[in-house]
Amino acid sequence: MPIELDPEGHETKALLAYLGPLRGLRLLEIGCGDGRLTWRYARLAARVVGIDPHRGKIARARQDRPLKLRRKVTFQPLELEQYAEFWARRPRPRPFDRAILAWPLRQIPAEGMLYALKTIRSLLRPGGLLVDIHPTGDPPPIELLCDGQRHLLGYLQETDNFIEYGQADVALSKADKRGLFAPDWQGTYPFASYFDTAAALRQWLAEYWGDAIFDPAIEARQQALLADQPPASPPRVILREQVRITRLVAQ
Ligand SMILES: C[S@@+](CC[C@H](N)C(=O)[O-])C[C@H]1O[C@@H](n2cnc3c(N)ncnc32)[C@H](O)[C@@H]1O
Repeated sequence: MPIELDPEGHETKALLAYLGPLRGLRLLEIGCGDGRLTWRYARLAARVVGIDPHRGKIARARQDRPLKLRRKVTFQPLELEQYAEFWARRPRPRPFDRAILAWPLRQIPAEGMLYALKTIRSLLRPGGLLVDIHPTGDPPPIELLCDGQRHLLGYLQETDNFIEYGQADVALSKADKRGLFAPDWQGTYPFASYFDTAAALRQWLAEYWGDAIFDPAIEARQQALLADQPPASPPRVILREQVRITRLVAQ
């Protein structure tokens, strides 16, 4: 089976609730990647711009763009600062009503996070909303799901002990203190990623999660469990993250 990210749809449900009604609104999605989340809300808005410095992901997003969304959804292979410069040089730059920062804040160096939030503020109209999504700093458990039973295989670790998630929280609270944004709603939701095997998870981490530490004992435990009880249906290995979602109002 393919890798499944959040098949339960907890993230989509939370994102749509935090964004509120989108009819007639202009959205900027920062770090849109391959458009994974864009397709979940774009049809509801008037205009969507997705930006990401990863050219391959932007090419994929453009390729996947449904015909009926071609006029209202565009993607640019730019990072936030580059896009802000491009936007400011326009003859009549139109501010956005909503900005989405789904997972990239943790990838921005700590000293640049507040600056990034300041830049996002400059792209939004006063009263516009920013929705930030980033995981909590708890090491995510890895489970084996086998014939309806869940077995804990271990926990994912990071070389820097998930420090960037706490730094992202600090940056959001500094943005509040500096009068850039006022947080008005915060919560958490579970985000599960499903893989065929622990080896498939290990390979995915090597590609997408540079500072992840994957304990080889996790793979050994999976093999031992499956050897003990050969499953009747295909097993799945699940990485369970807890994600914080915050809505902030541009001041
Ligand atoms: C973990 S991925 C999430 C992608 C997408 N939001 C999703 O949820 O599937 C984070 C993305 O942020 C992008 N990113 C990192 N720094 C960025 C920056 N300064 N400006 C814009 N995007 C950035 C990365 O290239 C990456 O595609």
